[in-house]
Amino acid sequence: MGAKIIALLGSPLLSGNTAKLLDEAIRGAGDAGCDVEKIEVTTLKFRACREIFYCREQEACAMKDDMTGMYEKFRDFDGIIVASPVMTMGIPGRLKSFMDRFQVYFMAKYMRGKPLVPEEKRKHRIGLYLGISGMNVPYVFDGAKLTVQAFFHIIDVKYWDDLLIRDMDTIQDLSTRPELLGEAYRKGKEMGRILQETVT
Ligand SMILES: Cc1cc2nc3c(=O)[nH]c(=O)nc-3n(C[C@H](O)[C@H](O)[C@H](O)COP(=O)(O)O)c2cc1C
Repeated sequence: MGAKIIALLGSPLLSGNTAKLLDEAIRGAGDAGCDVEKIEVTTLKFRACREIFYCREQEACAMKDDMTGMYEKFRDFDGIIVASPVMTMGIPGRLKSFMDRFQVYFMAKYMRGKPLVPEEKRKHRIGLYLGISGMNVPYVFDGAKLTVQAFFHIIDVKYWDDLLIRDMDTIQDLSTRPELLGEAYRKGKEMGRILQETVT
């Protein structure tokens, strides 16, 4: 069995440019021998965190929906790829709500000092962030990157690398830029290679 990778798609477009980029990274990680599970955040049924704070004392969330199964799944992986377009200078609201619901992990780790991720997994978990923006300004990923970094901290993942593609308003279709898709494949494969060496 290969190293386990979760590939999280934050765009509502399941075949859009972000999805194309993610699919290439998935293909790379698969070619490195990893088992990759893709999660399309916008197809999940869940609500935003309501600050009930049940998770202050319990290893669970009071809200029962599609996030319930995610908490178990997220203990177990070795690597994560988050792919997202920039929206309003951050990440899409749905993906942000998904991340906010990991308050369950935050409370366990920072408030009770009992991380939900097992010690042996915490040592090697790495994450790759694939970002796409319409605009071509240097600071366009600042907000999104801070959010992804915070999410990685909360779920015990080291920020390993990123691929940030600006100017999609000009590029329009990523299929016209095979070198960028190739870079996503390469990063996915390299991440997979590192994890395969560590885990197997
Ligand atoms: C609601 C919305 C808000 C957006 N906000 C920004 C923004 O603040 N900055 C930016 O550079 N691009 C912004 N964009 C452009 C997207 O990042 C860009 O179109 C991206 O390629 C979409 O990727 P997708 O087709 O995979 O979803 C926005 C797009 C949408 C739909």
